[in-house]
Amino acid sequence: MQTNEFHKPVLLEIAVDFLITDPNGIYFDGTLGGGGYSDFILKKLSREGRLIATDLNDAAISFCKEKFRNEQRIKILKDNFKNIKKILESMNISKINGAVLDLGISSYQIDTADEGFSYRFESDFDLRFNKSEGVPAYELLNQMEADEIGEILKVYGEEKFAYKIAREIENQIKKRKIKTTKEIVDIVSKVTPKHKLNDTLSRVFQAFRIYVNDELENLKQFLNDVIDLIQSGGRIVVISYHSLEDRIVKEFIKKNSQECNCYNETGKCICGNQLRLKRLTKKVIVPDEQEIKLNSRARSAKLRAAEVL
Ligand SMILES: C[S@@+](CC[C@H](N)C(=O)[O-])C[C@H]1O[C@@H](n2cnc3c(N)ncnc32)[C@H](O)[C@@H]1O
Repeated sequence: MQTNEFHKPVLLEIAVDFLITDPNGIYFDGTLGGGGYSDFILKKLSREGRLIATDLNDAAISFCKEKFRNEQRIKILKDNFKNIKKILESMNISKINGAVLDLGISSYQIDTADEGFSYRFESDFDLRFNKSEGVPAYELLNQMEADEIGEILKVYGEEKFAYKIAREIENQIKKRKIKTTKEIVDIVSKVTPKHKLNDTLSRVFQAFRIYVNDELENLKQFLNDVIDLIQSGGRIVVISYHSLEDRIVKEFIKKNSQECNCYNETGKCICGNQLRLKRLTKKVIVPDEQEIKLNSRARSAKLRAAEVL
């Protein structure tokens, strides 16, 4: 399989240009996928440069182990990027020169029925990045009541009819436990006008995927730790695909790129601001029309980058 068949990287050149400040440095690609970013990073590094890359998806790991089989500078690990601190500790690395996350799922995951991420194919309603850890979405869902389901759809899917859909799911699981993507599609179809069905299904699947994989917490944990692990002058680059993730990255950069502005009498900081980063993207970067035309999955991408002071 060629890289492009596994995943077509989004905002590739600009992301890697932001990331690399020293060709001899050590870099971290937390979302290896089809290795598009890693490949380009390696092209920009010298023979001394090193790259540590993680992914939770078995297919991504085996695809990239094969792809990079003759490449000594990359270390590929099946791990969660939120564990960056432990990963670097285990390799006796105290500081790196930069880290990149290209969040979400790869084209392979969305286009492969067995991965269970798409409402277009019938498979188990699983949604886990790592199928050998945690609990599949259908098992969690079968234990839930309408309020909890509605909350997930509202918060993680920003779905207007969250509670209506949730009540219909609850009605169904009271009669019979659900297991497949088709059952979810059938339930959502009952309460959604036909012309809105695809968008609603995208939000429903997105919401449960974020919930099942704890995606927002993974990102927060990563950002919280990576800032201490990058040496001065090194960079953090994040490409996100929905507003919840982008908000987290934006807030993180904002909080860490301005001085504490608490002028309270106690002298204690309550704003949490610290001057630790220089914001490199004053305005968020998005793909141009040409890229979106060639790759429709680029349309929601947003890139933010910052430099550690
Ligand atoms: C959009 S793809 C990355 C594509 C990659 N940049 C490329 O050029 O091929 C996102 C990848 O991140 C992985 N992923 C998502 N969350 C993860 C996490 N917390 N830890 C490790 N990998 C994760 C997914 O399994 C998927 O393979």
